[in-house]
Parts: sequence; structure tokens; C-alpha cells
Amino acid sequence: MLVVSKDLNQATYAAPSIVNHYAQLNLLQPAEQAILDLLKQQGAKLKMLDIGVGGGRTTQHFSAIASDYIGIDYSAEMIAACKKRFKNSAQHVSFEVCDAKDLSRFADNSFDFILFSFNGIDYTPHEDRLDILKEISRVGKSGGYFAFSSHNLQGIEKQFDLRKQLSFNPLKTYVNLVMAALLYFFNRSVSLIQIKASDYLILRDESHNFRLKTYYIRPKEQIHQLSEEFKDFRIYSWKQELEIKDKDELESICDLWLYYFCTIQ
Ligand SMILES: C[S@@+](CC[C@H](N)C(=O)[O-])C[C@H]1O[C@@H](n2cnc3c(N)ncnc32)[C@H](O)[C@@H]1O
Repeated sequence: MLVVSKDLNQATYAAPSIVNHYAQLNLLQPAEQAILDLLKQQGAKLKMLDIGVGGGRTTQHFSAIASDYIGIDYSAEMIAACKKRFKNSAQHVSFEVCDAKDLSRFADNSFDFILFSFNGIDYTPHEDRLDILKEISRVGKSGGYFAFSSHNLQGIEKQFDLRKQLSFNPLKTYVNLVMAALLYFFNRSVSLIQIKASDYLILRDESHNFRLKTYYIRPKEQIHQLSEEFKDFRIYSWKQELEIKDKDELESICDLWLYYFCTIQ
């Protein structure tokens, strides 16, 4: 039997303490609320795929607008937590262990709405990310919707820039510099010059104590990456329900992750 070893990120998402953490989350982020409101305006109930469902934070909110809701995750431990958490939920809600890289169990044009929330897509290498986007466009209906969030390279660039850590408040300066020192330590092969010159990079950030390798991308590059298979992009800072419409704002925004809502071509 072929034993496929889990990569560092996948192993992290299987750890009991991390699974428990996600299984207790319940609130939507403001950008997710804006997207849910947009979908509600469509009126019809949707066939929905919730990729990287984790502990089911989004399930209760989004399954309410779905005729069929399937949550998938490559962590069997996360899926077990969802099944336990939603054991009494409606019949149209189900969960399956499945890697987003291989959605072959789902037919072409199956879903009206596909969600990959809270930066779940950022835990795969670049080539796998492109394959995942292709798979999503294949299983999504033409004219259906895809929403996801991704880490913003502009945000981490600011954290790497030591001059930008200085503040009139000495305590804030101290905390910022300690965080910058940790970032430099865990990303010893990366420089600020390299970040400035990159459209996307894989970095280790403070989430889950620097255990994860995380993909960061500039919003302009993210739109470029999506543009073959998706259209009509709406972009939100995770912190706000208001769409970012201004091009200059998009190219300067430093919030650590952004939500992308688009139509499948
Ligand atoms: C940051 S957690 C977010 C969990 C949940 N969506 C939430 O918002 O609370 C990312 C989730 O994506 C899952 N994930 C990452 N890469 C995946 C992949 N290639 N296929 C399926 N799930 C994946 C992880 O196992 C993890 O549960």
C-alpha cells in the first residue's frame, strides 16, 4: 500500500489543539457577511461546496442559503469534528474528506457557489494553487460564484520593513520590533528587497506559532491569476463589508488578508 506522508501544513491542520480551535469558531468575518448578503439577494437556494471547511465556522451561516451544502477538508480530523458538531443538522448538510487538488468525485458544473474561506487556499504550493483554481472553475457552474480569501503580500511587506515598526508609543515600537525579529528569524532566506520584487511568496507568519507555510500574493497578481477562469471581481478587506473599488487603494492596502468574490466563466 502506498503511504502518502502529510506535508507540514496538512499535519498542522490534523493536530488536536488546532482542530479544537477551529471547531469552536462561529462568527463570520465582515467580508464574509457582505458576500453572504450578496448571495441572499439572489433569492434562490444554492448548491454549495465549502472547501477547507475546518471546524465548520461557516456551515451554519451558509447552509441556510443552500439547497445542498457539502463541506470538504483534506484533514480527516476537521471533518470528524464537523460531523460531530453538526450531527443533528438538516439533511442537505454533509461533510467529506477531500483534497481541493482533486475534486474528481464532483461532476463538471455541479455547484452554484464555492467558498474557500479564511485563507485555506494559501496552504498549498503555487502549482497546486493553480490546479485548485482550475478544479473549482470546472465543478462550478458557469455563471455561478466563487469566494475565497488570501494573504496580502503588501501587508507582510509592511511588517518586514523595520522603519514602519517605529511609533511614538515605545511599547508599540517594542512589540512591533519583536514581531519583525521573529518574522526575520522564521524566514531567514527572505529579504525585504525580495518581497518588494515579488508578486507572490510563501512565508511563515505568526499564525499557529509560525508552523505553517503560507502563500502571500499582491491583489493585482491575484486578479491576474484568476482572470482566465473567473470574472467580475469584487474585493474586500477581511475587516470590512465595504467593497474596495479604488485601484490605488487596492495597490496600497496593507490588511493581512483580502476576500475575492467572482463569477465563474
Ligand atoms: C485557516 S483554516 C480555516 C477553516 C475554516 N474554513 C474556517 O474559516 O474556520 C484552513 C482550512 O483549510 C483546509 N485546507 C487547506 N488546504 C486544503 C486543501 N488542499 N484541500 C482541502 N482542505 C484544505 C485545512 O485543513 C483547514 O481546515
